[in-house]
Amino acid sequence: MQNPYLPIPAVVKKALVETSDRMLRTLELRFLNEEDAQAFSFVPGQFCELSLLGKGEAPFGIASSPTERGSLKFTINKAGVVTTALHHLEEGTEVGIRGPLGNGYPMDLFKGKNVLVIGGGFAFTTLRSLIAYFLHPENRNRVKDITVVYGARTPGLLLYKEELAEWGKRSDIKLVVTVDQGDKDWKGKVGLVPNVLEEAAPSSENTYAVICGPPVMIKFTFPKLMALRFPNERIYTSLEKRMKCGIGKCGRCNIGHLYVCKDGPVFSYAQLEKLPKDY
Ligand SMILES: Cc1cc2nc3c(=O)[nH]c(=O)nc-3n(C[C@H](O)[C@H](O)[C@H](O)COP(=O)(O)OP(=O)(O)OC[C@H]3O[C@@H](n4cnc5c(N)ncnc54)[C@H](O)[C@@H]3O)c2cc1C
Ligand code: FES
Repeated sequence: MQNPYLPIPAVVKKALVETSDRMLRTLELRFLNEEDAQAFSFVPGQFCELSLLGKGEAPFGIASSPTERGSLKFTINKAGVVTTALHHLEEGTEVGIRGPLGNGYPMDLFKGKNVLVIGGGFAFTTLRSLIAYFLHPENRNRVKDITVVYGARTPGLLLYKEELAEWGKRSDIKLVVTVDQGDKDWKGKVGLVPNVLEEAAPSSENTYAVICGPPVMIKFTFPKLMALRFPNERIYTSLEKRMKCGIGKCGRCNIGHLYVCKDGPVFSYAQLEKLPKDY
């Protein structure tokens, strides 16, 4: 068995600034060795530890879909030492990848069901993976209706703009993109995600909801899901905790008896309800 602390070598294939404030950058990474590329298989919602020599290592959700073979995408918010260094990488630079880590979204449970995806800000990364996976021709019939409500503070802060435009033209996905505050060119919706969700009022029947976003968005969206009669067992989210090893060994990320890195990062609200109250 390969040492789980050893990173797999990869190079930056492409780097793209996503947002007008230049704080979010998507890196497309290609494994250096074809055998590593072949052996790497993941499900949406999993994450990797990306490392840079002399800088360190940090966890990032995989933003590409397993159907996008040949490379992996990560969208990185400039927060501190590692993320700033990742923002300055040139194409062709070597990066280490440990993963895939964590559990990912419960894809088997979603089979034959409707899926409601609710995202805010840059937490949309693994939701992009999930949506792109289900929209792939090989997988579209795995789930029934796909509804997506995605919001950002301003139009310039929306991620994956070209893709959003493409998804918006499709008849097999209901996409609602909203911003807290528009600008002179914005012709789309203006409103906060929880209110837009309430207005869209998707049915909870036979439906799983997946929600990722800033804590304040989640706090105000959750009661809307309750009002729409989504049971806790059918609401999933992905938690972000400080992590080190990413494989359940160092005890850095635990909440009660759960390790976010190994038992999560994806949890249902039914699971979260049982965690210590101070979380
Ligand atoms: C499972 C998982 C998936 C993630 N996915 C993404 C992703 O797709 N894109 C992305 O941009 N980020 C993601 N993050 C967050 C990312 O890992 C942190 O921003 C990163 O570790 C910061 O590293 P740094 O060295 O740049 O910051 P540091 O120099 O270590 O810290 C800079 C600042 O960020 C804060 N910080 C550091 N780590 C975290 C954290 N985990 N949560 C909250 N605050 C933190 C510190 O307190 C400090 O204020 C994810 C985190 C987890 C656990
Ligand atoms: S990060 Fe080490 S146990 Fe989770």
